[in-house]
Amino acid sequence: MVWNETPLLKVQGLHKQFGAGCVHCHKPSTDEQTGSRCKYCGSIWACRNLSFDLYPGEILGVVGESGSGKSTLVKCLYFDEEVTSGSMSISSFEEGSTDLFSKSAQQKRYIRNHVMGMVYQNPYLGLRMGFSSSGNIAEKLFAADHFHVGSIRERAADLLQKVEIPLSRMDEPPKNFSGGMQQRVQISKALANNPPLLLLDEVTTGLDLSVQAKVLDLIRNIQHELQVAMIVVSHDLGVIRMLADRTMVLRQGLIVEQGLTDQILEDPQHPYTQLLVHSLL
Ligand SMILES: Nc1ncnc2c1ncn2[C@@H]1O[C@H](COP(=O)(O)OP(=O)(O)OP(=O)(O)O)[C@@H](O)[C@H]1O
Ligand SMILES: [Mg+2]
Ligand SMILES: [Zn+2]
Repeated sequence: MVWNETPLLKVQGLHKQFGAGCVHCHKPSTDEQTGSRCKYCGSIWACRNLSFDLYPGEILGVVGESGSGKSTLVKCLYFDEEVTSGSMSISSFEEGSTDLFSKSAQQKRYIRNHVMGMVYQNPYLGLRMGFSSSGNIAEKLFAADHFHVGSIRERAADLLQKVEIPLSRMDEPPKNFSGGMQQRVQISKALANNPPLLLLDEVTTGLDLSVQAKVLDLIRNIQHELQVAMIVVSHDLGVIRMLADRTMVLRQGLIVEQGLTDQILEDPQHPYTQLLVHSLL
């Protein structure tokens, strides 16, 4: 990884509030002592002032307990959720010169289909379970204006092979598949248009340990082969340790610590990170 490169992704001051808000919580507190939930109106600042860069080909880990804002962050980046405020740019889109959160719905769709891939925590969000697996990939290719049926089928076969789905099963719907296979179909769909950026939310959660290891291996191989940058969300530090170059620790919507993964795991500075790391041992 080359650190003096231009970042692929730049996120600045990302805030996300759920709920109507009130005079007491119209601005998020960035004080760690203040919780993320407003005690007057119950609104939640799920993400508070998140700023970070991601370099081409790099894997950034996002770790934190349940409810710390990890899924909300990646959903905001993928435009599934609208941010309350903040900005994002991607160097391969308009040379990184514009804020993508303020784009029109049509432009956001274009960016989702050409610049990003997403693997959801819940495969039902990322796949049409009743369509064939090859059809799921074709849908993603259509969305990015590939219309040649023969080459779409070839590409689908290629992608499914990459994630070790046997070609004899490419026309079966993912609902027939095991959890690990569904996640692998999601990964191949997310890679369909060669995006420079892949978002992976708890991709191995709920899978058997042996299946987890296979999916993690697959992600590492893909990163190696395709040099795609990734944000890997997990509450499991073992996953982060295995995949992430750098890591960001979230607690109640705030970044409490970020740095090289090895450093964070070996010498955590924040008491919350220390707790996470020690509970892993
Ligand atoms: N659609 C929503 N409406 C209201 N509140 C929400 C919504 N989505 C998330 N939240 C709240 O935002 C906070 C962050 O949730 P989020 O799903 O991002 O956490 P997470 O870190 O991904 O947790 P987990 O590890 O359990 O997946 C939580 O307090 C959650 O209740
Ligand atoms: Mg989540
Ligand atoms: Zn409030």
